[in-house]
Amino acid sequence: MIINKTVFRPSSPEDAIAVRAVHRRAFGRDAEAELAIALIEGETETIDMVAKLDSMVVGHVVLSALDGPERSLALGPLAVDPDWRDFKIGTELVRRALEMARRQGWKSAFVLGDPVYYGRFGFKRALAEPVTCAYQGPYLQALELSPGALADYAGPVTYPAPFHAVD
Ligand SMILES: CC(C)(COP(=O)(O)OP(=O)(O)OC[C@H]1O[C@@H](n2cnc3c(N)ncnc32)[C@H](O)[C@@H]1OP(=O)(O)O)[C@@H](O)C(=O)NCCC(=O)NCCS
Repeated sequence: MIINKTVFRPSSPEDAIAVRAVHRRAFGRDAEAELAIALIEGETETIDMVAKLDSMVVGHVVLSALDGPERSLALGPLAVDPDWRDFKIGTELVRRALEMARRQGWKSAFVLGDPVYYGRFGFKRALAEPVTCAYQGPYLQALELSPGALADYAGPVTYPAPFHAVD
């Protein structure tokens, strides 16, 4: 099975060109590729993960520290090469990146995306509903990595600056 042959690990600087390319191919434009690189090369603390098949980058995800609840992350962008979709590579990238975040003591994560897709990881619209955020709406969801981390949180959630350049 493809997923059993896929290697998942944090990206290294040598992966930058391939990481940029996988986002460009996945989204069909440059914005998310620029965002992913700006995040992993920028000042904000990040966790990222590449998926490699035969040493070729076929997927990538970034989590970056946001301003808001204590130790909280913004998940995205997430990309899987169109030639390698529906093999659970995206699911495994997110699952492993969230697990790494939990181990590193991060307490929650927010995502802007399809609720059906992100529901599988436990992201909930209800947890994001009370916050004030530029992306507030039906696609903003949140996940507690530490139980109760977002209980009663109704303050601001501000994504890292590179997100502001993306429409
Ligand atoms: C979304 C994406 C990362 C999924 O990668 P993947 O490796 O094919 O995902 P998996 O194999 O783990 O999961 C496939 C599931 O995702 C669903 N899916 C695929 N693209 C989707 C999308 N754009 N929105 C919602 N669900 C999507 C499939 O229907 C499938 O559902 P199932 O498990 O119930 O059958 C990939 O399609 C992609 O890169 N898309 C373009 C970029 C993008 O939209 N990124 C996410 C932005 S929030």
